[in-house]
Amino acid sequence: MAKYIIRQSLSLTGEVAISGSKNAVLPIMAAALLTDARCEITDVPALRDVDVMCGLMRGIGARVNERYGDRTIEITTEAIASEEAPNELVKKMRASILVMGPLLARTGRARIALPGGCAIGTRPIDLHLKGLKALGARIVSKDGYVIAAAERLRGANVYLDSPSVGATENITMAAALAEGTTVIENAAEEPEIVDMVNFLNKMGARIKGAGTNTIRIEGVARLGGAKHGVIPDRIETGTFMIAAAVTRGKVLIRNAVPDHVKPVTAKLGECGVDVRALDDGLIVDARHGVLRATDIKTLPYPGFPTDIQSQFMAFLTTVRGSSVVTENVFENRYMHVNELNRMGANIKIEGRVAIVEGERLLRGAEVFATDLRAGAALVLAGLSARGTTRISEIHHIERGYSAFVEKLKGLGADIVRAEE
Ligand code: EPZ
Repeated sequence: MAKYIIRQSLSLTGEVAISGSKNAVLPIMAAALLTDARCEITDVPALRDVDVMCGLMRGIGARVNERYGDRTIEITTEAIASEEAPNELVKKMRASILVMGPLLARTGRARIALPGGCAIGTRPIDLHLKGLKALGARIVSKDGYVIAAAERLRGANVYLDSPSVGATENITMAAALAEGTTVIENAAEEPEIVDMVNFLNKMGARIKGAGTNTIRIEGVARLGGAKHGVIPDRIETGTFMIAAAVTRGKVLIRNAVPDHVKPVTAKLGECGVDVRALDDGLIVDARHGVLRATDIKTLPYPGFPTDIQSQFMAFLTTVRGSSVVTENVFENRYMHVNELNRMGANIKIEGRVAIVEGERLLRGAEVFATDLRAGAALVLAGLSARGTTRISEIHHIERGYSAFVEKLKGLGADIVRAEE
């Protein structure tokens, strides 16, 4: 079984280049299903989830040509061979649900395995279905699948009870080819949605308001091909910002968008870490002064990202004072707490709140990754901990971080990936 073996690595220094965003490239690949013309996506991250999405697209009938050399994927879907996202793929990657809107818009049919829950929550899709129904789809659930059908999708007004990222993406993609105008209220505002909409508009869609809570989509009869470079991954950016902070180092993070990580910059600043924004990156310097505690509350964008909560908590275990972490987005996103406590942290959970007693000298231990970002948090804790940390179940981590070991080694980290 593959593991990461990490020895204490203080004061990371040097520079790291951030890869393309996992949570942007997945909806963008799904959006390519909306046309029979050739789409070219560049700056694609080398991730397990991208491989799964390529497999799903091929099963649907897309011709997918992956050019690893220059991180480019070409997708041409001349005809849809199957309107199905099968259970084995949806189980592997919940984002498979994002082909539902495009399939419905392109062929009038979609049969998607219901994504089960995962380590961080039940992950319902009621808001996706509410939006697609509003556009005219008839939806039934049968044998663990959701089957949607619509002769023609018609624009509608959709209010999202909560600003779901995936529901906003699915409804926007379906509405792009609907007859008439759709307005999504209380839409999610994440940068990954803006990136997907920029790609759709290059294809000929007429969408305004992405990045705000109201998105207006004027349906068009057809969409053409487009070429698009994926934005840098803001969650990977935040993870490396915290790698510099938790090891008290100084790191130059290139190919990052400072605007997309403002909450992390602000919170690291409150702890006494110096973060300087550059045109295409950031410098994080945690070498000076005594770092202190702060509180974080996760919220939909532009609030503090839930996907960086566990990594930031690992850092908070090492600073002076007591911090209060409140996870407002998912109902069970503290799976990393037990593992951090086994490394000597002192974290107590009370419902949605975790109280972190800081200034702990973490000790290396045998721990396991329960989910993608919890695993990343354990890597960061292992860099700070005295001794050796062994992390198993690292497939969770490798879904969302490309060349993670190489990038950390480039900053001076003592980390190897070994089969044990
Ligand atoms: C996206 O997931 C991201 N994944 C997640 O990143 C991220 O944590 C999440 O947005 C929140 O920012 C991708 O983009 C591929 P949501 P998504 O729908 O779309 C509830 C990572 O680590 N909800 O915004 O599934 C849901 O239960 C992953 O990269 C409903 O109630 O997130 C959750 O509590 C993890 N009904 C909240 O909304 C619905 O129909 C946020 O979910 C849909 C969601």
